[in-house]
Amino acid sequence: MRLKKDSSEQKLRGAYYTPLQLADAMVELFASQNISTVLEPSCGDGVFLDALQNLNLLNKVDKLTAVEIEPDEADKVRDRYSEFEQIEVCTEDFFDFYNRVLGKEQYDLILGNPPYIRYQYLKESQREMQSQILTSHGMKANKLINAWVAFIVACVQLLSEKGKIAFVIPAEILQVAYAEDLRLYLANNLAKITLITFEQLVFPDIEQEVVVFIGEKGEEEKGIRIIEMNNLSGFAQLDLSQNGFQKLQHVKEKWTKYFVNAEEMSLIQELRADKRFAQFSEYGIINVGITTGNNGYFSITEETSEQYQLSEVT
Ligand SMILES: C[S@@+](CC[C@H](N)C(=O)[O-])C[C@H]1O[C@@H](n2cnc3c(N)ncnc32)[C@H](O)[C@@H]1O
Repeated sequence: MRLKKDSSEQKLRGAYYTPLQLADAMVELFASQNISTVLEPSCGDGVFLDALQNLNLLNKVDKLTAVEIEPDEADKVRDRYSEFEQIEVCTEDFFDFYNRVLGKEQYDLILGNPPYIRYQYLKESQREMQSQILTSHGMKANKLINAWVAFIVACVQLLSEKGKIAFVIPAEILQVAYAEDLRLYLANNLAKITLITFEQLVFPDIEQEVVVFIGEKGEEEKGIRIIEMNNLSGFAQLDLSQNGFQKLQHVKEKWTKYFVNAEEMSLIQELRADKRFAQFSEYGIINVGITTGNNGYFSITEETSEQYQLSEVT
């Protein structure tokens, strides 16, 4: 069994930093928009601020707030951007920050890569705050829920009327059972959802599959779209203002079904309605088979192994 005391400091704080190329590409999507207030809820060494600066956007915003729990990292960012009066770096637990500013502050753009920390690795006070954030928005709280889920829920609450959120998050949002309440919450609280997936791994040092999640508030409900890219170079062709949204069902179901296009979906529905076909579940049970657990032999890294264990439980 892996104990909390044996886990690396990097893992306990979920500190896997975003490559600058990805941060640049994400920021560029919002470069032409009218953005006055920005929040980075867990800024690490400040790569998203660097990306904003690369595009000369820091001078255009009225206020940017960056939060980071690790004092050394927060200090680095504060020092690097000390000449920008509009930037405030808070050395604080984001959950405390959220409780402090909720109802007082709102943000037009919330950007980042929230920490991927298993429930077991959170402090008791963080577990309580995480549960509070989830249950106060009609979601269940349990020991399978990773910290990034509460981050995304809290950040959606902090968006302004037409605010936008762009997060790098684990690809498991698409299908794991522990994120089913989250999928419904996002469907109910955002007008448009764009998910960008990658064929190749975009984090060079970890095997974690990630997606870029973009959520937009607004009156006109549009739905969900999934954009499949091979790698980061696909951003060059992406225009957020284009359509291509499918109607999002307000249910907890997996989002993997949105990978099919309208034509493929109608074929599936046709086959489902065809009495010549029966559901496999009428004949058998589909389940995970016996697993050896010998991850070393199968060259599964610690990260994917943990993900696998989680999906097995779910
Ligand atoms: C995945 S890293 C991302 C850092 C940066 N946003 C980036 O994209 O490179 C997550 C960061 O969250 C910070 N963190 C972990 N728990 C936090 C919390 N409760 N509040 C604020 N920051 C936290 C970690 O120290 C780490 O720097």
